Amino acid sequence: MSTISIQSVSKCYQNGFEALKNVNTEIHSGSFTVVLGPSGAGKSTLLRLINGLETPTTGAVRIGGEAVEEHKLRHIRSRVAMVFQQFNLVDRLSVVTNVLTGRLAQRSWVGSVLYLFRGEDMAIAQRVLARVGLTDKAWSRADKLSGGQQQRVGIARALAQQPKVILADEPVASLDPVSSEEIMTLLREICDRDGITVVVNLHQVELAKRFADRVIGMNGGRVVFDGPPAELSQQTLRTIYQREGIEDDNSLDLALAYA
Ligand SMILES: Nc1ncnc2c1ncn2[C@@H]1O[C@H](COP(=O)(O)OP(=O)(O)OP(=O)(O)O)[C@@H](O)[C@H]1O
Ligand SMILES: [Mg+2]
Repeated sequence: MSTISIQSVSKCYQNGFEALKNVNTEIHSGSFTVVLGPSGAGKSTLLRLINGLETPTTGAVRIGGEAVEEHKLRHIRSRVAMVFQQFNLVDRLSVVTNVLTGRLAQRSWVGSVLYLFRGEDMAIAQRVLARVGLTDKAWSRADKLSGGQQQRVGIARALAQQPKVILADEPVASLDPVSSEEIMTLLREICDRDGITVVVNLHQVELAKRFADRVIGMNGGRVVFDGPPAELSQQTLRTIYQREGIEDDNSLDLALAYA
């Protein structure tokens, strides 16, 4: 099981900024959760804590009952994969080599350093490339692909880790609407078919409404909404996106008029 449990988590960065304030939530195994919230709400911080890239100042993060701790980073990587807004591919390497780097978490230190991939890894890489529809691009240089294709490579690399959880931090923020649709559909399908727990940070309310089982709304480091997308009323959206110290927020009104 890969239920993510976030218990009384606060995160205070070194400069003293408190990015998360007593966050408590449980993300169920096999579910598709979208995290919404304005810039600075703490969405990326939350994902980085789940991935062990940051440690909570107080509280604990558990996945399947096991605490996410720094000394277990390698172990975490073998269970939790990340998909990024800017894809984070190695531009000069081929698509398939990028995907194979997803296997590194499963391999020995020596094997990783020498970039020794086994035949078994290659079979996995080919399989996940087929899954994202990029078999014919396997030997292209990563930077020759379109943004949508590069994000599919990012997802293939995540799948190559054979993870229990995929965390996607604004995976469609750099993509056109059609590619965004494809990527969200792919992530949703991976959740449904493979039972992988998927958590996606998004700025698009409309995509959250269509793809999520559950929406977590954040503002100022706190969870201010937690429920199914059907409950995302205009009032709820105002709570999620309201800005401190601005009384009549015209921009908020206008933005939500079309949400
Ligand atoms: N390493 C850091 N040191 C200090 N402050 C940080 C650090 N990382 C993030 N912050 C601050 O913590 C707050 C939350 O940042 P975070 O990146 O989690 O927000 P976000 O919701 O992902 O925003 P966006 O939608 O813009 O990506 C912000 O105010 C940010 O400036
Ligand atoms: Mg962010």
